[in-house]
Amino acid sequence: VGNGLANTPQMGWNSWNYFGCKINEKVIRETADALISTGLAKLGYRYVNLDDCWSEVQRDSKGQLVPDSKTFPSGIKALADYVHSKGLKLGIYSDAGAFTCAVRPGSLFHESDDAKSFASWGVDYLKYDNCFNLGIEPEKRYPPMRDALNATGHTIFYSLCEWGVNDPALWADKVGNSWRTTNDINDSWASMTETADINDKWASYAGPGGWNDPDALEVGNGGMTYHEYRAHFSIWALMKSPLLVGCDVRNMTAETFEIISNEEVIAIHLGFKEGKFMHMGLMDAFNELFFGIVYDNWFLQVWAGPLSEQRMSVVLWNRCSKSGTITAKWGTLGLESSTSVSIKDLWKHAYVSQNSVSSFSARVDAHACEMYIFTPSTLSRSTY
Ligand code: DGJ
Repeated sequence: VGNGLANTPQMGWNSWNYFGCKINEKVIRETADALISTGLAKLGYRYVNLDDCWSEVQRDSKGQLVPDSKTFPSGIKALADYVHSKGLKLGIYSDAGAFTCAVRPGSLFHESDDAKSFASWGVDYLKYDNCFNLGIEPEKRYPPMRDALNATGHTIFYSLCEWGVNDPALWADKVGNSWRTTNDINDSWASMTETADINDKWASYAGPGGWNDPDALEVGNGGMTYHEYRAHFSIWALMKSPLLVGCDVRNMTAETFEIISNEEVIAIHLGFKEGKFMHMGLMDAFNELFFGIVYDNWFLQVWAGPLSEQRMSVVLWNRCSKSGTITAKWGTLGLESSTSVSIKDLWKHAYVSQNSVSSFSARVDAHACEMYIFTPSTLSRSTY
């Protein structure tokens, strides 16, 4: 990509999942204020990202993009100045096609003009969508905007949103800082789990500079339970997915805040002590018989990723409709069978004891997960 960004996956907020097209400058300013007042900004949530519907339905007489005069009367530059004055960064949205999905002007064949507009407004991030793409391959439509952004001389994070078309993990690390691996997430358990599984296939292709993006978070939007949202957040962090909050942070519940502000889970998301990519993913699934539903049993899952030295992040994720016992075996995790391990529970914020030789088991509620750091006892506990 050449912009030096995305050493770790982006964190912040995106307007689409909660607000859709109902955005305006007041909402965006208040969201920036809320990121500061809640302390979320300090935890790393710094991008305030507009999605579709910020612009007028037509370009101006000179062919330039203009903000919607009813909803963004002060303009994007003023908004960027405001967001910057809070120490945050502003993201904008366009489309690698003739129109955006909500039929505002797209940037295809206007890359240079639009990149210059974004840069002149002080925008820090571009999400680039895939609607009305005239049937042209994404490999042809996405690089021109990268080149146009780089040519502005401003450093602008480039987020590809081409829905996994033509397997972007295989080529997009040279184009953008992240690429969507999936279609749109929605605020349901079925969509969230499916999205995680599709994204997981591409785990080994992501790394510093370019990340898999299984879409913004739905935590706090009301369609899932507390435990389902906790699993959503844990797995997104483990997969090193962008953590872009997608709820109304001005009015979130204490439970939503508790989930998205878990510093130890965020540390897993950001932890690159060794400066190299760590394979994440579905490591193993263990059987437990209840009523013989074999299909269900496969959904007692262990997800894990290596941290520094022999430390591991481990998620035990029960995707069955009943509670079950999930076992993480040392063999699966790549640990020597004789290793004794210190285990920190990142949701209970407490150490728990290793309860078997060469494995650890926990009872996990239906649709819930537990998340841990495993530290071989020869290593210090404190370092990720
Ligand atoms: C499709 C994208 O995948 C979504 O994330 C969102 O940006 C909408 N388009 C906006 O129209």
